[in-house]
Amino acid sequence: MRATAGNAAESVSPPINKTFTTMPLSQPVATVDAVELEIMTGLARTPKQISPKYFYDQQGSELFDAITELDEYYVPRVEKEIFSAHRDAICEAIGEGVTLVEPGAGSCEKVKWLLPDLEPSAYVPMDISGEHLQASASALKAEFDELTVMPQVCDHTQGIDLELPVEDAPPVFFYPGSSIGNFEPDVAVDFLRDMRAQMNGDGGLLIGVDAKKDTDVLHAAYNDAEGVTAQFNLNVLDNLNNLLGGNLDSDKFEHHALYNDEQGRIEMHLRCTEAHAARLAGHTIRFADGELVHTENSYKYHPEEFVELAEQAGFEQSQLWQDNRGWFSVLYFEPA
Ligand SMILES: C[S@@+](CC[C@H](N)C(=O)[O-])C[C@H]1O[C@@H](n2cnc3c(N)ncnc32)[C@H](O)[C@@H]1O
Repeated sequence: MRATAGNAAESVSPPINKTFTTMPLSQPVATVDAVELEIMTGLARTPKQISPKYFYDQQGSELFDAITELDEYYVPRVEKEIFSAHRDAICEAIGEGVTLVEPGAGSCEKVKWLLPDLEPSAYVPMDISGEHLQASASALKAEFDELTVMPQVCDHTQGIDLELPVEDAPPVFFYPGSSIGNFEPDVAVDFLRDMRAQMNGDGGLLIGVDAKKDTDVLHAAYNDAEGVTAQFNLNVLDNLNNLLGGNLDSDKFEHHALYNDEQGRIEMHLRCTEAHAARLAGHTIRFADGELVHTENSYKYHPEEFVELAEQAGFEQSQLWQDNRGWFSVLYFEPA
């Protein structure tokens, strides 16, 4: 994802030409002006903030994939355990002939937990990280050549504008990895409502949600010994430099992640290690020694807390699957 600063008409994500279907593949994610406004507004706040969606340039997507391999980051392992133990029941709940839609699909690896048992009419992976999505969707198509795959490059925080490649195949949203935890709870309800609005009374939502648990386990998951999560967090500064033109210096920051018990969330920050000024998009930004820049939240929900949010968005719970320790939940919802 690259922007050309100064040209409002330029799209942030280059158009992708290769298609698997006759349908259009991608759309511009945002104008440079919109990206600049969002980033500079966040950096003008106290404390400074950067939206987690800016983690995901090509390097950030690769670093996230490396995080999923870490011993400490239990999420993909435990979630996979649940899918392995309950695959038949999950596929039965979803049913045949649906359009599986995956916001933030990343490497498109988790959909393989459902294929080929689930036989969707089409798969629509969506992601903001265009190059990475394109490569992942190509690899998936090579493995499952009968499947209609229609990747869509988009920023799903700007609303979901779904194009269904197959008629009469209702959308079932697949949103694993507890990515829903990255939204503030009220914004999560809005996002769930956006998905619900695509359903026309028919469809569903299969979602993975990380539960509250022992603080040491959570702390280790976001502070791995190899420092991969630290690299991932610091990489956001390089992405901002590339997007807007700047000299934010990742050597002058360190990774800082903690569990905020009161809020029920992991918080990731970048802590400035020496007072300095940097340039971004032609602006000067001053950082104080020890200042924190907030880069991500990851809210943790007991299943009943999450069901309450989904109900506010117009869903009713139909199924819940968990691992033995209750560390992670996979839930299936239908439109109420
Ligand atoms: C935490 S990763 C999860 C990847 C995968 N779903 C999983 O469970 O392992 C978040 C994914 O969402 C994408 N993403 C983040 N913010 C986004 C946004 N606003 N719009 C679209 N995709 C986004 C990222 O590029 C990344 O692939």
